[in-house]
Amino acid sequence: MEFQFSELAQKSLIPSAINQLTAEFAEDFREGKDINLGVGYVNDKTIPVDAIQQAYSEIIADPIRYRNALNYGGADGSPNLRNSIKKYYLQYHIGALTEEDFNVRKILIGANGATSILDSISDIMKPGIVITADPYYYIYTETLERKGFKILAIPEDEHGLKTDILQQKLKEINPDEISFFYIVTVNNPSTVILSTERKKTIVEIAENLSEETNQLIPVVFDKAYEDIIHNPELMNTVSGLKFDNINQVVEIGTLSKILAPALRIGYIITPNNALADALTQRTSDIGFSNSLINQEISSWLLDHYIQTQKENVNKGYQEKADFIKQMFSKYLSDYIDFYTGGDAAFYFYITFKNIKTGKGSKFFNYLSRITGDSEIDGIEEKNPRLIYIPGTICSKEPKAQYQLRLSYGFEEPAIFEQAIKLMAEACEYAMK
Ligand SMILES: Cc1ncc(COP(=O)(O)O)c(C=O)c1O
Repeated sequence: MEFQFSELAQKSLIPSAINQLTAEFAEDFREGKDINLGVGYVNDKTIPVDAIQQAYSEIIADPIRYRNALNYGGADGSPNLRNSIKKYYLQYHIGALTEEDFNVRKILIGANGATSILDSISDIMKPGIVITADPYYYIYTETLERKGFKILAIPEDEHGLKTDILQQKLKEINPDEISFFYIVTVNNPSTVILSTERKKTIVEIAENLSEETNQLIPVVFDKAYEDIIHNPELMNTVSGLKFDNINQVVEIGTLSKILAPALRIGYIITPNNALADALTQRTSDIGFSNSLINQEISSWLLDHYIQTQKENVNKGYQEKADFIKQMFSKYLSDYIDFYTGGDAAFYFYITFKNIKTGKGSKFFNYLSRITGDSEIDGIEEKNPRLIYIPGTICSKEPKAQYQLRLSYGFEEPAIFEQAIKLMAEACEYAMK
């Protein structure tokens, strides 16, 4: 006898490439010995533990301002939090958004981080083609593919998605089949910051396509990492919402990277239209917006603590990035063709000259200690192993075979020196 599964469930029975990879590793991961530079965890030290505790106490002590904080909340989110997000944007001139920009839009809070909002978008949009940059945010593209969407990934350069290539590719597809644009403004995995010029062009292209097809094609900007652009010269970005003429642009943010992922606060700034209504209903269906107490804590933190937090977090990541760059020049310069990263978020995306990084490659086998040579793998127990995200998970371009993503969110600098030395050994082994 078998379950009568939906198509989505049938596809969900097959673990994604990344889940397979991490499951194999997680099974016998040794804390303090193996190094995980694959996960997108933030640095534990950046989480404002004391401020969260203070926020909780103050919220409970003020039931007038923070009503029913331990009860159910509404589907569009806590009014306090939505107000604090708006104040945060205006105070720091985020995205150059103004009071008028907010007056004609809504802020909605997701059920469980930005992830749940992205998931809801994949529920409410008719499956079709999703346009994104290459390399792509593999977690979401996999979700989309399981739900029947097709990914059109357009290569990026140092300014983000290459709009000239996009224009060419658009000639090869039926525009009626485009479902939406999914554009990560500080790209994961590459951390390339999308330039204002490119944002504007993408919105213009989407507007033209909407007119041509007579259907509103959403442009979803995912700005998950914009709060942690830690190179001070690059911090001032302009929101894609600024270029929206026909109410098709939305922007998704998260407090995961700047406050704490466990708060699970993701939000969307959206025109007050049918897309907002459908999203609100999806959020309601899956358990209302995030836990009200977490929303109120986040509101309090934005009101009282964000300045200190922003400075601490960004300073920490900037220092780490500088240290890792030094390690790259010291140990890996012979092997690396180029890399991106070190200005924003906490990833480096490396392209090697001629070392393959995928599952089954010599480099991968060395770092997973599965070469079959006990000198390398370890005799009694496995030597230290290193996990990273191979480029082939984030791109189908041929050069992805030579690429990988390293995360510097979680681990401490000392671990990085060890990790990069291990990578240099793996490179040497791969070249033999
Ligand atoms: C590009 C991107 N979008 C969204 C998210 C998810 O954020 P949240 O923690 O709010 O679900 C991540 C998390 O790593 C991300 O990298």
